[in-house]
Amino acid sequence: MKKIRVNASRPYDVVIQEGFENIGKTIKSVCSAKKIAVVTDENVFPLYYEKLADELRDFSLFPLIVGAGEKYKTTESFLKIIDALAGNKFSREDLVIALGGGVVGDVAGFAAACYLRGIAYIQCPTTLLAAIDSSVGGKTGVNLSQGKNLLGAFYQPSLTFINTLCEDTLSERERTSGLGEGVKYSYISENIKVEELFQNRAEFIFKCVDFKAKIVEEDEKESGKRKILNFGHTVGHAVEAASGYALSHGECVIKGIDAIIDLSADFYGFSDEKKQRLKLPLKDFDRNIAFSAKEIAERICSDKKIRGGDIDVVLLKEIGQVEIVTMKLSEFKERLYAVMR
Ligand SMILES: NC(=O)c1ccc[n+]([C@@H]2O[C@H](COP(=O)([O-])OP(=O)(O)OC[C@H]3O[C@@H](n4cnc5c(N)ncnc54)[C@H](O)[C@@H]3O)[C@@H](O)[C@H]2O)c1
Repeated sequence: MKKIRVNASRPYDVVIQEGFENIGKTIKSVCSAKKIAVVTDENVFPLYYEKLADELRDFSLFPLIVGAGEKYKTTESFLKIIDALAGNKFSREDLVIALGGGVVGDVAGFAAACYLRGIAYIQCPTTLLAAIDSSVGGKTGVNLSQGKNLLGAFYQPSLTFINTLCEDTLSERERTSGLGEGVKYSYISENIKVEELFQNRAEFIFKCVDFKAKIVEEDEKESGKRKILNFGHTVGHAVEAASGYALSHGECVIKGIDAIIDLSADFYGFSDEKKQRLKLPLKDFDRNIAFSAKEIAERICSDKKIRGGDIDVVLLKEIGQVEIVTMKLSEFKERLYAVMR
C-alpha cells in the first residue's frame, strides 16, 4: 500500500493498493457517515460494486447507476444523483463515493459539491485515466451543449482510494485513453516515463499522483502553474468535440500533444531533428486520426481558458520543461492551423 498526502485547502490522502481491503476503516477515519451513495456507471456496477460493498458492510449503501461514457457527463446525470440524495434524505454527515472512471468522478464530485452546499465524497477511480489524473485535484463538473466541463466546481474529495486491480478489466481503447494522460506526464515531468506503467503499475500511478498533488498544492484553483497539466488539452478537447466524443479523451490528448509540439517547434524555431526527438515518446500511441485543421482551430474559440481575446497555451521547450505562453487567440488559431494543415 502506498499513500500520498495532498495538502490542498482541504487536505486528504490518496491510497494506492491492490483491492478494496480496509476501505471501510479508512472511510471511518475521515468521516462519520452512516449512509453512503455509491455512484457508478452501468459498466462498472457489475464489475466492482459487490467487491466494494463487501468491504462496506457497516454502512447503509445506496447504489446509483448513471449511463457510461462522456455522453452521460450531463446535467441530467447530475440531477439524477441530486434527486436520489434528496429522495433518500442524505444529510451533511453522509457520503458519496464515485466508483468509476473520470466521468463518474466528475459528475458525482459535482453533485457532492452542490448537494446541501457540499457533502463529503470519495474518489474510487476504476480507469487508468481517473487513477493518474481526474481523481486527484478536486476538479468536478459536467459538459454543456456549448462545450466540455463548462459547469463545475473546485471541490476536493475527502479521500481518493485507488484499487489498481480495477484496470485489469479495461478495454484496449480505455487503456489507450489512460495512456494519453500518462504520455502527458512524461512530457511535463522529467522523472516520469510512460514505459514504467508496463513494468510497475502501482509505482507509475504513485509518481503521476505525487507530481499532480504537488502542483495542486501550489495552485489549487489553476491561476498559474496548474495550467501545465493542460498540456495538449486545448487542442485535445477540440478534437474530442469535433469527433462528437466518439474518440476517447486520451486519444485526443495524444493528438493535441502532437499538434502542440509542432506549434512549439514553429514558435521557438526548433530544428527538425529536435522536433522529431521530442515526438519520439508519442510514436507507439499516436493513431492515425483524420480531422479538419480548420474545424479544430475554430473549435478552440469555445475553450473556457480563453480570457478576453487571449489564451494561455502550454508549449514544450524540452522534455520536462514546459512554458505557459499567453497569445492572442487569433495568433494561436493561425499558428495552429498552419502547423496542422
Ligand atoms: N477532473 C479532472 O481533473 C479530470 C482530468 C482529466 C480528465 N477528466 C475527465 O475524465 C473523463 C474521462 O475519464 P475516463 O477516460 O475514465 O472515461 P469514462 O469515465 O467514460 O470511462 C471510460 C469507459 O470505461 C468504462 N470503465 C470504467 N472503469 C472500468 C473498468 N475498470 N473496467 C472496464 N470498464 C471500465 C466506463 O464504463 C466507460 O465506458 C473526461 O470527461 C475528462 O474530461 C477530468
